[in-house]
Amino acid sequence: MQESTQKKRILVTGGAGYIGSHVVKLLLEEGRHEITILDNLSTGFQETVDALMQIAKEQRRPLEFIQKDLSDWEEIAALMQNNTYDAIMHFAASLVVPESVENPLKYYLNNTANTVNLIKCAVENNVRNFIFSSTAATYGEPDSHLVDLQTGLKETDPADPINPYGMSKLMSERVLKDTAFAYPDFKYVALRYFNVAGSDPDGRIGQSTNNATLLIKVAAETAVGKREKIYIFGEDYPTPDGTGVRDYIHVMDLARAHIEALHYLRENQSTVFNVGYGRGFSVKEVIETMKKVSSVNFPVEIKERRAGDPAILIANNTKIKQATSWRPQYDDLEIICKTTLEWEKKLKECKQ
Ligand SMILES: NC(=O)c1ccc[n+]([C@@H]2O[C@H](COP(=O)([O-])OP(=O)(O)OC[C@H]3O[C@@H](n4cnc5c(N)ncnc54)[C@H](O)[C@@H]3O)[C@@H](O)[C@H]2O)c1
Repeated sequence: MQESTQKKRILVTGGAGYIGSHVVKLLLEEGRHEITILDNLSTGFQETVDALMQIAKEQRRPLEFIQKDLSDWEEIAALMQNNTYDAIMHFAASLVVPESVENPLKYYLNNTANTVNLIKCAVENNVRNFIFSSTAATYGEPDSHLVDLQTGLKETDPADPINPYGMSKLMSERVLKDTAFAYPDFKYVALRYFNVAGSDPDGRIGQSTNNATLLIKVAAETAVGKREKIYIFGEDYPTPDGTGVRDYIHVMDLARAHIEALHYLRENQSTVFNVGYGRGFSVKEVIETMKKVSSVNFPVEIKERRAGDPAILIANNTKIKQATSWRPQYDDLEIICKTTLEWEKKLKECKQ
């Protein structure tokens, strides 16, 4: 009786960052867990933690924040020994692709080695459920002779990363797979996110990332005047308008996929799910949509293609839809652009 009313404890690494904070907000709203955020605030923000603390207070839900670095393995081991966590959601990572090419060891240490240590601590302390932030970058540059790019990438399609970031994540997936095989009580879901954008529609948290490189955030920054113009890299791809096509998913739908993955794990075995909408928009379509929702006709300049940018990257999301109750609620490019823009305006107001 007591067991069923007791809240399960969950450790969220990287919960002060963009995606992790949206998941924490949903977990708070769900109200089934006692949540601990662990973050070193390297790319996350104290303001985000403060906003989440305020939400937790309003909802009278338990939320704890620990500022720690995952590379402090002794401290991580002690934390796990002194607490009983039912699940870990592991968002903390470095994620700038060009930086991973210049400084691969940073990525293998922060994304792979620290993840291996976290998995070890989980196994040693009977943490049974592990939700891992993986990425479409694990697929690399899909070979259009082997993969039907129009129907989207399937989890069984070849994973062949073309940069250390993607490889650091794929290696972690492999460690999870081998660990779950060796220790049947330990189960995981690796979620391969496609292009994440948008912000919480109620405007309390959003993407504050400095030096953002992802298109929708960059377009919003250009719309509010933070950047002079936006660049399109390559206009000669084999796509309808010649620009690259990507599967943009709203962060709220992605956040919901984590809750679903956790429910799934309680009844099922470890797995990998793509999380995307299964449809794509071109760079030009995104820019036109941002111009429309912002009513700003900002300048655009065409540049050469960048190395390693595939023409099309779309998720096949059949697996997660069949295995869980996950159903997108924000599959609308205008809503994605609008919520990104609203947050960008808010950031600008705060700086003024
Ligand atoms: N943003 C995307 O489009 C995208 C796409 C695919 C996968 N992902 C994955 O999603 C996860 C979250 O990404 P995000 O966009 O929220 O990034 P983010 O930078 O906003 O969040 C990462 C958080 O982890 C923290 N962190 C990093 N290294 C740490 C360490 N050693 N110890 C403690 N905390 C540490 C940072 O301070 C930050 O708060 C990452 O694992 C990333 O690889 C993101």
